Amino acid sequence: MAKRALKTAAVVMLTWGVPLSVSAQTTATPIDASVQADQADVPISRDIFGQFAEMLGEGVYGGIWVGKNSKIPNVRGIRSDVVNALRALKVPVVRWPGGCFADEYNWRNGVGPADKRRATVNAMWGKTIEPNTFGTDEFMDFVEQIGSEAYISVNVGSGTPQQAAEWLEYMTADKASALGAERAANGHKGPYRVKYLGLGNESWGCGGSMSAEAYIDRMKLFSHFSHNYNPDQAGRALADVLNAMSQGKFTLALLEPLPNEMRRVAVGPDAAKTEYTEAVMKAWSLKQPMTWGIEGLSLHFYSMGGGHPFGFAATDFGEKEYATLLKETLRMDDIIATHSAIMDKYDPEKKVALVVDEWGAWLKPMPGTREIFFKQQNSLRDAILASLNLNVFAKHSDRVRMANIAQMVNVIQSMILTKDSDMVLTPTYHIYKMYVPFQDAQFIPVTYDAGSYTFGGVTLPQVDILAARATDGRVWMALTNIDPNRSASVNAKIAGMAVNSATGEVLTADRVDAVNTFGAKAAVAPAPYRANASNGSLILELPPKSVTVVSIQ
Ligand code: AHR
Repeated sequence: MAKRALKTAAVVMLTWGVPLSVSAQTTATPIDASVQADQADVPISRDIFGQFAEMLGEGVYGGIWVGKNSKIPNVRGIRSDVVNALRALKVPVVRWPGGCFADEYNWRNGVGPADKRRATVNAMWGKTIEPNTFGTDEFMDFVEQIGSEAYISVNVGSGTPQQAAEWLEYMTADKASALGAERAANGHKGPYRVKYLGLGNESWGCGGSMSAEAYIDRMKLFSHFSHNYNPDQAGRALADVLNAMSQGKFTLALLEPLPNEMRRVAVGPDAAKTEYTEAVMKAWSLKQPMTWGIEGLSLHFYSMGGGHPFGFAATDFGEKEYATLLKETLRMDDIIATHSAIMDKYDPEKKVALVVDEWGAWLKPMPGTREIFFKQQNSLRDAILASLNLNVFAKHSDRVRMANIAQMVNVIQSMILTKDSDMVLTPTYHIYKMYVPFQDAQFIPVTYDAGSYTFGGVTLPQVDILAARATDGRVWMALTNIDPNRSASVNAKIAGMAVNSATGEVLTADRVDAVNTFGAKAAVAPAPYRANASNGSLILELPPKSVTVVSIQ
């Protein structure tokens, strides 16, 4: 490829209102990208843009729940500023109540009149008092207020299959059953929807330190005995399957879950470790029909820099930490490929989804906060990190059909930080908003030479590109320029389309460690972006350290 140097001034002319303070930097070789818009065929599940809200620190108390009598504007105790901000993200699914918390949670403590609820100890997260004022009905109310779906993790560690079955009955049964009647008396007449059911959490660690075999034996009971009774989600009646058999009309398709049916997610691998993946998938492939089942396998992988949660700073870091953390996050691609290959052995038809239900940048907490609450700042680097992960998930859409960033509010890589009645949107929030058009879009293959960026012996691709055809038929591209010093120029040819221009937004700032604070809420905020076509190709000039999302006209 011929080298071409473009002055930053040219970049400025081609963008609108982007605060570029990147004078005299030059692009690397222009990148030719071929966007196969005529080959859009794998759906990008909207659920890869899912989130996770654990009963941990200020994640729920303070961040979501302020109580009905709070001066902070709220609807039934749930803060309205946070709800309104999250609604704009079209959050598809929320995982709750944990995390490690889930394997110690007794749902019974969190239902019924607020003044009768027992206070318990949150043994996992700081031994704080858990007032149980935010329980099942409050969570479902929250999910409804933000227009999302529920992913409930049941207690496989210290709980029993019966407790899990009764919890699901409480949430989904008709009021003719005692538990359905109890829910109705608590204010919700009809059954709730539970889109996903998590069968434990990190059972190789905080969920009970079980071997894969021990976990599988236990998980089968939870899978088999937890029934969703919501008529919209219940699946095929056993009698229908038996009838089909007796009439010689049985086909294996009758054992497949219906589109609306609840999906069960088993505990799977810890990052690159394959023990759980092998064992759970092997057990699944050998199972007898109509016994137990799973439709998902969970994967947890955090970007932590030093190999443990507080290894890297969230603010005031240098280029070495920037490059190192992003290099680590790109391991996600290989980790998914490794587990997908094992899953393919046992499940070539890809019936079981890989569910990345915990991921994100886990960094040093904010000064003055309790370490165990994991309240951390969130920088432009973390927004770039989020875009890289979302692109990886989308590229693996044939297998990855849900992902949940950790976590939603005030915990780890959050969307929102709150302080009393105030709220600030993080750079990661903006990425999620910019990526909304990719929800349920069709993945479009893109071929390009990504170039490279090297710092301190760490080499990364310079550019990462995602393309998709949205549900409204429009072609969208997300382009991440990792290089913090050089802009990039992408010449994109879109197959089967005459292109004129592309418009959208770009997220960048003057520093990779730029953050939004309560004093400066828009230090990292998207700006309008426009690119034009020349000789049938779109010329997209990408500022250093930026994420650009455009629709193509
Ligand atoms: O997200 C915080 C914790 O990290 C979760 O509770 C646990 O599953 C993981 O180790």
